[in-house]
Amino acid sequence: MENFIAYNPTTLHFGKNILTSLVTTLKEYGNRVMLIYGKGSVKKSGLYDRIMADLKTQGFEVCEYGGIKPNPVIGDVDAAAEIGRQQKVDVLLAVGGGSVIDSVKIISVTIPVDHGGWDFFTGKAKPVKAIPFIAIPTLAATGSEMNPFAVVSNHAEGLKAAFGGPLTFPKHSFLDPALTLTVPKNHTAYGIADLIAHCFEAWFGIGETSLTDRFVLSIIKEAMDYGPKLLDDLHNYEYRERIMFAATMALNGMTMYGRSTGDWGVHSTGHCLSLLYDVPHGASLTIVFPAWMRHFKGQIGNRIAQLGSGLFGEPLTADESIDRIEAFFKSLGCPIRLSDMNIPGDHRQPLFESMVHSKVNGGNVKMKEEDYKALIELYL
Ligand code: NZQ
Ligand code: ZN
Repeated sequence: MENFIAYNPTTLHFGKNILTSLVTTLKEYGNRVMLIYGKGSVKKSGLYDRIMADLKTQGFEVCEYGGIKPNPVIGDVDAAAEIGRQQKVDVLLAVGGGSVIDSVKIISVTIPVDHGGWDFFTGKAKPVKAIPFIAIPTLAATGSEMNPFAVVSNHAEGLKAAFGGPLTFPKHSFLDPALTLTVPKNHTAYGIADLIAHCFEAWFGIGETSLTDRFVLSIIKEAMDYGPKLLDDLHNYEYRERIMFAATMALNGMTMYGRSTGDWGVHSTGHCLSLLYDVPHGASLTIVFPAWMRHFKGQIGNRIAQLGSGLFGEPLTADESIDRIEAFFKSLGCPIRLSDMNIPGDHRQPLFESMVHSKVNGGNVKMKEEDYKALIELYL
């Protein structure tokens, strides 16, 4: 086992109608609230009206920023931070998927400083203080509601990058699985794939830690049991609940106990696909993960076979494990090749250049330019 520190200061409120205690919690942080949301799902579902009505009835002063895009961009972060600064907000409320929650993390550290949000990603600025924020996730996928990470794109710089630290954890997150009942089938599937991919990234990291490996296998098995059931019955609260809980546990630190790092090479590769072609995050992972395992099976074949055998309950080789995992992703309706996304053009060169520019690499499995080329050929 590797030495490790377990730290997670987010208070999680989980369950049906859990939002009834939101305003009491918000009051602890002040009276001036900024509500931040995405492209419109919260308005369509009625959640926006519900929250606004509660806030106004309780006498909060509310400002807002709507329109955060999936695969969020730094321009929205800066524009929202400027409003928050002018309005002297006390607390931020992130209502939406991972894209909204991630954006709010950077907004929260950008408001108090004289910097653009991207300066945190380049290291030009260090967070000194954060406006406290509360997350209300409406999609089960990223685990952003209980971790410090934020992933944002900067198209001018040609990068989709991650940032996070002790100041960027949500103070509280309110998870009502009922809020995810309206997530369409494709994004539900991408979320299931994303949570499984987070477990894989931990699994292929550094550190032999049998108890944590068991946590990881349990989370993936939960997703493999309930994911397909949910996709056949999108309005089933119980299945939504299982998947939401699994998604939060898949990236809240628990899968990293006893490891010095996860791998994350597949995520970094996937970010290039999202940056260039706006591929949804979960879809980028189902495209890259099977190819990555095939390419590196000479190096990590035992670990792949151990994963497959643990998940499918019978002794499997690395090749059989990869085939079964790929078939599972396909059964969710996720793409397993970039060509499944029907994006016209030859993508080899832009993908390769993006990987070089992004310095794509794994924490454990190291990647060189020859690996980029081979990987691209395998998933095209
Ligand atoms: O924008 P709106 O209108 O809200 O629609 C969203 C969006 O189109 C929609 N949606 C969300 N909740 C809904 C809903 N539609 C109907 N009903 C609801 N209840 O779903 C679409 C996708 O939303 P998005 O927030 O982009 O999805 P997700 O939660 O998968 O977040 C993806 C982003 O998180 C990053 C990804 O890279 C990507 O940018 N990640 C963040 C991580 C973290 N913070 O730890 C780790 C991950 O590995 C990942 O990198
Ligand atoms: Zn992910």
